[in-house]
Amino acid sequence: MNKIETHDVNFWYGDFHALKGISMNIEEKSVVAFIGPSGCGKSTFLRLLNRMNDLIPGTRLEGKIQIDGQDIYAKGVQVDELRKNVGMVFQRPNPFPKSIFENVAYGLRVNGVKDESFIRQRVEETLKGAALWDEVKDKLKVSAYALSGGQQQRLCIARAMAVSPSVLLMDEPASALDPISTAKVEELIHELKNDYTIVIVTHNMQQAARVSDRTAFFYMGNMVEIGDTKDIFTNPTKLETQNYITGRFG
Ligand SMILES: Nc1ncnc2c1ncn2[C@@H]1O[C@H](COP(=O)(O)OP(=O)(O)O)[C@@H](O)[C@H]1O
Ligand SMILES: [Mg+2]
Repeated sequence: MNKIETHDVNFWYGDFHALKGISMNIEEKSVVAFIGPSGCGKSTFLRLLNRMNDLIPGTRLEGKIQIDGQDIYAKGVQVDELRKNVGMVFQRPNPFPKSIFENVAYGLRVNGVKDESFIRQRVEETLKGAALWDEVKDKLKVSAYALSGGQQQRLCIARAMAVSPSVLLMDEPASALDPISTAKVEELIHELKNDYTIVIVTHNMQQAARVSDRTAFFYMGNMVEIGDTKDIFTNPTKLETQNYITGRFG
């Protein structure tokens, strides 16, 4: 089943045509990686999937983006509900200046959850799901800033998970992390695939090959091709993809 479908998506920043006619289907509970040289539109496209670009003045979208069969840009769509369902994790870990516990509880509190025992249970469950519980269970009241960068990033993933999204968008989530923390985040992505649909931008091709089921190659605002990750890396159909994955540019 397709979780996400985009149909002929074009996007402009002012006069700049940043995305050109992008159509793709993303299957439920799969991991799709976006690769391509810097500036080709990966983050722009990712941000369209939970309407983060709405916040940027002077932008324009044409085409259709559907999640669970619903046009997410239709009139009447509640953007905060959409963002609850489609969570986002950024390049740099950005925990709030709060305790570990309160970082994860944040989304629940913002959504008006008052039942403290439910919140406690959900925080524990989520931290377990984010493979962080064992490392933090004895210091839940400590500031999130006391964690290592890799732990902070897994905490941010937990924070996104706490409000029960079904899609997680990750924009180069490991690019600021050391190799061991990167491996942990990659393992986590692998686990999360059982429950979530995951779209990950990465400039690291090995990472795309390790974590994703399908890979989409972007180049200059176009999606050149999408396919099974193994095929994209061993037998791409387009010359641009081949040049990129063999390191001829990028
Ligand atoms: N807020 C913005 N305003 C204007 N142009 C932008 C903005 N964000 C990105 N762009 C431009 O859109 C293009 C695609 O950027 P981006 O989606 O960030 O690429 P990528 O994530 O692949 O590196 C680039 O040319 C970039 O300069
Ligand atoms: Mg980017």
